Amino acid sequence: METKLFDVTDLKCAKAQLAEAASLLRAGGLVAFPTETVYGLGADAMNPKAAEKIYAAKGRPSDNPLIVHIAEEEDLARLTDVVPDAAKKLMKAFWPGPLTMIFQKKGEVPDKTTGGLDTVAVRMPDHPVALALIRQSGCPIAAPSANLSGRPSPTKWEHVYQDLSGAIDVILQGEPCRVGIESTVLDMTGDVPMVLRPGILTPEQIGRVIGREVVLDPALLIHRPRDVSEEAAPAPKAPGMKYKHYAPKAEMVILQGEHSRVKAEIKRMAEEKEKQGIKVGVILFDEDGFERAAHDFFSKLREMDENHVDLILAGALSDKDSVGFAVMNRMWKSAGYHVIHI
Ligand code: TXA
Ligand code: MG
Repeated sequence: METKLFDVTDLKCAKAQLAEAASLLRAGGLVAFPTETVYGLGADAMNPKAAEKIYAAKGRPSDNPLIVHIAEEEDLARLTDVVPDAAKKLMKAFWPGPLTMIFQKKGEVPDKTTGGLDTVAVRMPDHPVALALIRQSGCPIAAPSANLSGRPSPTKWEHVYQDLSGAIDVILQGEPCRVGIESTVLDMTGDVPMVLRPGILTPEQIGRVIGREVVLDPALLIHRPRDVSEEAAPAPKAPGMKYKHYAPKAEMVILQGEHSRVKAEIKRMAEEKEKQGIKVGVILFDEDGFERAAHDFFSKLREMDENHVDLILAGALSDKDSVGFAVMNRMWKSAGYHVIHI
């Protein structure tokens, strides 16, 4: 299949391309598009055959449910009958934006879209191209991140092209994504809202809006599964959180400790390894540059691969900060939980 590339950086000049992408979606095709978090790989969420194509193109395990993207609050009624008051408040405060909420699903939502679960994840992306595409297609759009399963999430259209060209109908070429890590996933089906995947939108921000504390899926707090026996480690409630993820081709090690010592140790290790003929890449963010780190992390991982780096040395961010924690959640996974404490 030839993948069409449509430049949508100026939406006014891209009306015809957008209309073509929307009609391909309606016909069961796959269209990659920019959102504020990462690029998504979209298909008609209500068409099981279309949803199935997403799994095939990404090489994604079929038990890993997709997030359904909508453009108006009214569209939620097509997906669920149960919207708790807290969820209504959160929609007002944060949609469109990087918040995905999980609801009981309606019968019409195909099992293929929800990985066989009786719940559905929904979000309204804060991006003019994504919103225009959803409106024009007239269907809720199921969209995981537009990367091959296991690879770092795409924050630029070029990343989507590297992973999926030839396997999907269209890539809408927008600007690099503003946020850089995927949305916060919040389960609204239990007694207490629970964060299943941390993101740029923090539990503190969510808690302030609903006037109560938000809990974290206990599985998120196991940072070093190597220290825990398989049986003792709780299974994450978002199926996607259990897979090997974001893996660069290089080996990756995280150095954790006081910032200036980490910096010095990375320098020392890099010199030592380079002497042995090992090509080293360094990922070191400013100590308090959490949002910048979120913005750059996935794209840096891909840069390392392009530069054929053998070993990535990465400085840990503080996981006491909620955005730092969200970035660390990705960093731990990409390094296979390989952390050196110094
Ligand atoms: O920012 C984002 O959320 C991006 C953009 C494209 O919107 N999308 C994204 O989708 O990251 P994906 O498929 O890569 O990640 C979806 C996550 C997975 O961890 C999945 O297991 C979880 O959400 N999830 C989806 N539906 C769920 C459900 N019904 N119950 C529990 N977890 C669910
Ligand atoms: Mg993903």
